[in-house]
Amino acid sequence: MAQKVSKIKSATVGRAFNFANKSYNAFMKTPRFEYSRAVIQERINLFQGLQSPYGLKVRYAVKANPYPEIIRMMDSSGIHFDASSSYEAKELLSLGVVGEKISLSSQQTAHDLDELLKSGVLFVATSLKQLDTFTVSEFRPSTVAVRINPEVGYGHNKRTSTGGVNSSFGIWHEYIDEVLKKTNDAGVKIDRVHIHFGSGADPSVWGDVMDKSLLIMERFVDATILDIGGGYKVHRYAEEKEADMKEIMTMFSVKLEEFFARTGRKISLEIEPGTYFVAHAGTLVATIDDIVDTGKDGYTFLRLNTGMNDFLRSSLYGARHKIEVMNNSEVLKDYVVVGHNCESGDILTPMAGNPEEIETRKLREARIGDEVKIYDTGAYCASMRAKGYNSFPSAEEVMVD
Ligand SMILES: Cc1ncc(COP(=O)(O)O)c(C=O)c1O
Repeated sequence: MAQKVSKIKSATVGRAFNFANKSYNAFMKTPRFEYSRAVIQERINLFQGLQSPYGLKVRYAVKANPYPEIIRMMDSSGIHFDASSSYEAKELLSLGVVGEKISLSSQQTAHDLDELLKSGVLFVATSLKQLDTFTVSEFRPSTVAVRINPEVGYGHNKRTSTGGVNSSFGIWHEYIDEVLKKTNDAGVKIDRVHIHFGSGADPSVWGDVMDKSLLIMERFVDATILDIGGGYKVHRYAEEKEADMKEIMTMFSVKLEEFFARTGRKISLEIEPGTYFVAHAGTLVATIDDIVDTGKDGYTFLRLNTGMNDFLRSSLYGARHKIEVMNNSEVLKDYVVVGHNCESGDILTPMAGNPEEIETRKLREARIGDEVKIYDTGAYCASMRAKGYNSFPSAEEVMVD
């Protein structure tokens, strides 16, 4: 079904290009990210339908995609927010999100903590230093959240795991006594514990994640809220298994009820998905700028007019995304797809489990000027690009219905 474009920033909309004696209608400029409003709304509905026995708050992890229209959709649907820096929190406030809906959990000390606290933003201390910064603020409320680094992490690979000794995220679990002493001395209560094990791990890890999180909750006797983070996996390619949120929440609920039976404490749950909300909603549309090869024993490369300056996930994580050449050819050929940056790591088809190596994809026989779609690029693509590299302009972003 053709998608209706609702917002286009490009000045070249509808202009016909002529390239190598071949006319084609560039209806819209490439590269561009298209975000499907319908797909995002579906995910909002899914999360709104979830339940937890003692309350559930869903926060959108803004870093996945801060495109203003996406933020407004989330906000008007009653979704709350997880901000990863004080700048991201400020951006949310400037878009009209009320402070009370924003939880700030940042690696870097907030540059304007007083201002954010005054606006009602909820603070998560992710280090002992951050806890000190909070306790001395004249605008601090009497409660605070702390992010704890559990003894393990899980991710699609090591690059996306945020727990265990290799990870600098959160306060190491062995320092909980120190955390409790600091807050006790300052007359502050810890009402919320925040844990994010990592992103994109196989969905089978979630039972263990909840068990370990509840063990940590036992140490924080005043805490009534567990924010168990994001990281719910989506299927992008081949064997990847998408998380079933309803199944996960049912399992979480059983464990929270068992915790209540054991401790008498009713824990309200928060989750912070980024990827699961928006990954499937995004498509990066690019154009094949050139086709080159390395001889009969080598490879044929499709060089796109985009790459790591718009889409870093494959270079950074070895992430594999479905790619389609947009023509009617019935002939399939093996291609390696690469970006336009002057960087040998700018590869869009890395080998499974080994991002150092390239992999060929069977794609429709391509010609220079054909459009290519890279799917499931709604999360950590436009928001996490090597912006400005080689001075290439950034792909624009548009919302479609
Ligand atoms: C603290 C925190 N919450 C939530 C998320 C969102 O993770 P995902 O996009 O995998 O759901 C992240 C991702 O890095 C995170 O660090």
